[in-house]
Amino acid sequence: MGSTIPSTYIMEKIGLKRYKCQLYIVFTLLLLIISLYFVLFQKANMKPNLEPSGSGLKLILFWNTFYGNEEYYWGLGHEAFKKNCPTGLAQNCETSSDKKLLKKADAIVMFTRQFSKPHVKYQNQQWVFFNVEPPPHSFDSSDNMPNVPQRLSELKNVFDLTMTYRLDSDAIRTYGQMVPFNSSAPHNFHNYAEGKEKLIAWFVSHCDTSSNRMAYVDDLKQHVDVDIYGDCGDLKCPRFSDECNDMVNKKYKFVLALENAICRDYISEKVFNSLKLDAVPIVMGGGNYSNVVPTHSVINIADYLSPKALADYLKILDKNDTLYNGYFTWKGKFEFRDRPGFCDLCMKLNHLSQSKTPYKNMYNWYVRDAKCRRWNSQAQEWSIDEGLT
Ligand SMILES: *[C@@H]1O[C@H](CO)[C@@H](O)[C@H](O)[C@H]1NC(C)=O
Ligand SMILES: *[C@@H]1O[C@H](CO)[C@@H](O)[C@H](O)[C@H]1NC(C)=O
Ligand SMILES: *[C@@H]1O[C@H](CO)[C@@H](O)[C@H](O)[C@H]1NC(C)=O
Repeated sequence: MGSTIPSTYIMEKIGLKRYKCQLYIVFTLLLLIISLYFVLFQKANMKPNLEPSGSGLKLILFWNTFYGNEEYYWGLGHEAFKKNCPTGLAQNCETSSDKKLLKKADAIVMFTRQFSKPHVKYQNQQWVFFNVEPPPHSFDSSDNMPNVPQRLSELKNVFDLTMTYRLDSDAIRTYGQMVPFNSSAPHNFHNYAEGKEKLIAWFVSHCDTSSNRMAYVDDLKQHVDVDIYGDCGDLKCPRFSDECNDMVNKKYKFVLALENAICRDYISEKVFNSLKLDAVPIVMGGGNYSNVVPTHSVINIADYLSPKALADYLKILDKNDTLYNGYFTWKGKFEFRDRPGFCDLCMKLNHLSQSKTPYKNMYNWYVRDAKCRRWNSQAQEWSIDEGLT
């Protein structure tokens, strides 16, 4: 007995071991199949970057689209922050457009051209007011989106952060700036006045705008010639085409870069596009150009008391090539850099103190404080646009 018990015991043990072994194999195979299924399924059916990685990154949820783009021309996930932002906390974010993540999101970015917001605001969640246009052109006024500014003004204490071109935004998103750089290839300076027979070109397609720039140009035309291309004039040239740029570079000494709205801090891409040409931009906008373009690279209408005073100065430059060429000495020493605002926003979210109080009235901040102006031909001055306040 003493010998059979152990042998049976051993036999049983071996049997059990075999049985266990088979079980393990089956189980492992099953596990493999399941994981393979998930990998393949996820690859085939899931959009990338929709799940937060749980890595301590701040999750930014894009609530609606930015002019139809659900990635806000930035990108979903973590990649864009790693690629475009300086190291550190400005990179510590990821984005998603999956509304199912509403509860988990640290920040909800709403492009407020149209109006749509989540129904619930979760605790410690930052709601971000995002817009890129000046107030007169900020809001979609179509039939299915009536009266966005009115609805904004009814929202009190809802937005915690702002991301706009305004320099007092929490995250500043501008159209960019020119920054100095060391060129290895020396710029080939030449006489930019040579062969130019015409003075001013203006490319414009929106005639009736909040700034009333058309009326300013009409007043300017009392003193100097302005050739108007596009829908608001009688000359044609496909805008931004090489053909058109070459024509300007050969013929014109100046190009107009006037904003459609003259509002606090607002400078669009117009001036940067114009600086690419071999003509001096004549600018008008609500921002401080000294901070975004090289010294002595543009002529600012705001520095002249009247259209006549501006015209007189242009005539002086027209007669003196040395003075005129002085506006091109920056060429080859500056380059364009954009500022999409998301690095700022990420930095802000990572540094946020719990005590940040929401904006009491977004309408007052964004619309009223912008103090938009329009050209008043009778008074010959830029007056506050009363229609907007
Ligand atoms: C350009 O190079 C000079 C000399 O190497 C240096 O002193 C200067 O800081 C550089 N400027 C920029 C904008 O990198
Ligand atoms: C624009 O900015 C420059 C440099 O920062 C400053 O000196 C100047 O006073 C500003 N101009 C206006 C009109 O605010
Ligand atoms: C052009 O302007 C420069 C700089 O002000 C001056 O020295 C020069 O005499 C002017 N030339 C003419 C022809 O007026």
